[in-house]
Parts: sequence; structure tokens; C-alpha cells
Amino acid sequence: MKINLAVFISGRGSNLQSIIDSISRGELPLDLKIVISDNREAYGLKRARKAGIEARYVNPGAHDSEKGYEQQILTLLKEREIKIVALAGFMRLLSPYFLEQFSGEVMNIHPSLLPAFRGLHAQKQALEYGVKVSGCTVHFVDEGMDTGPIILQESVPVYDDDDEDSLAARILKKEHQIYPQALKLYATGRLQKKGRRVKILPEKK
Ligand code: GRF
Repeated sequence: MKINLAVFISGRGSNLQSIIDSISRGELPLDLKIVISDNREAYGLKRARKAGIEARYVNPGAHDSEKGYEQQILTLLKEREIKIVALAGFMRLLSPYFLEQFSGEVMNIHPSLLPAFRGLHAQKQALEYGVKVSGCTVHFVDEGMDTGPIILQESVPVYDDDDEDSLAARILKKEHQIYPQALKLYATGRLQKKGRRVKILPEKK
């Protein structure tokens, strides 16, 4: 039996698409049961529906508290026996309550080489800082913003004539590779967490 996955998005959903494509090519042994968005207009919801995947807009404005909102999401996850959540451009920070209540794992992708340039506009931060190399990181989610244990990273060069868009596009190509890879490592039982360090176990023969 495959492990059930949920993807949370807020916008474009290109990382979601890379996960959908990798599952449909038979490369990622996960069952993508539901895509959840906090934004009704998220293009990623269309991508999910096109692929025949349940796509739900969960309205944060419909709840008095963050806890109520997260409770609605937790119920959706429980009903679908979700074991792994992949945040893919989801613009909200999950609360300690959510992380405590959800019994599975939560991963995120961030467009910088963490721990550099956490938070919003990571590519712009990297350019303004003047780094010569940037990249992307897939990590487990903890209570901080972009602070959890690192699973995979990939680097890209930063060129003198880069602007935010050109750097973001170069990084995004790598994101589309490493997110499905990290999820596959999880799905095949090859990730071992020890404190902050995530060991990648050899492939099982
Ligand atoms: C990506 O750059 C991701 O790293 C960041 O938000 C962006 C989402 O893009 N967390 P998309 O919606 O997957 O196209």
C-alpha cells in the first residue's frame, strides 16, 4: 500500500506539478490524495483538478482563530489517512498546535541554501547580499520559519547580470528536481532523523 500524501499550496503550484508528474511517471511511490490551498485563486488548484486530484480551498477567513482553521485542515488529513504533507509555496506558518496534532511528517521547499535567507523573497535577499552561489533546500518543518532539519539541497551559480526573476527561474528548475527526490527518499524509508541531521540510508536491495 502506498503512503498518502497531501500538498499545501497558495499560488502557482509548479512544485505541485513536478510532484504530480513524477507520481504519474511511476517514479514516486506516494498517493497524492488532496491538495489544499488557503487561496481560492491559486493556479495550483486547477493543476490538481486537471490531474483528477481532490483540490480544496480552505478559507482562513471562515474561522475566528488560527486553531480553528488548522483544525479544519487536520480533519481533512485525518479522514484521508495522510501520512506526509508537502508544503509547496504555502504562505502560512503552521502553528505548534498543528505540528503536535498531525502525526505524520511535514516537508517544505525553500528557494535558498538554508540557513541563509529564510522567509520571504529569498532570491532577492541572496542577490542583495551578493552571494555567488545560491540554491534550494527541502527540509522537515519544525516550529520555526524555514529552520527544520535539512533533507536535500541543490546549488546554482549567481551571475553578475542576474535579477530576481532570472535567479528564481534557475533555482526553480532545481526545486522541481529535488522535491520529488526528497519525497521519494521518504516514501522508500531512506530518511533517518537524528536531531538536526537527516541521514540518507542506502537504497534497499
Ligand atoms: C517556490 O520558489 C518555493 O520554493 C517557495 O515558493 C515558491 C512556490 O512556487 N516556497 P510554486 O507555487 O511551486 O510554483
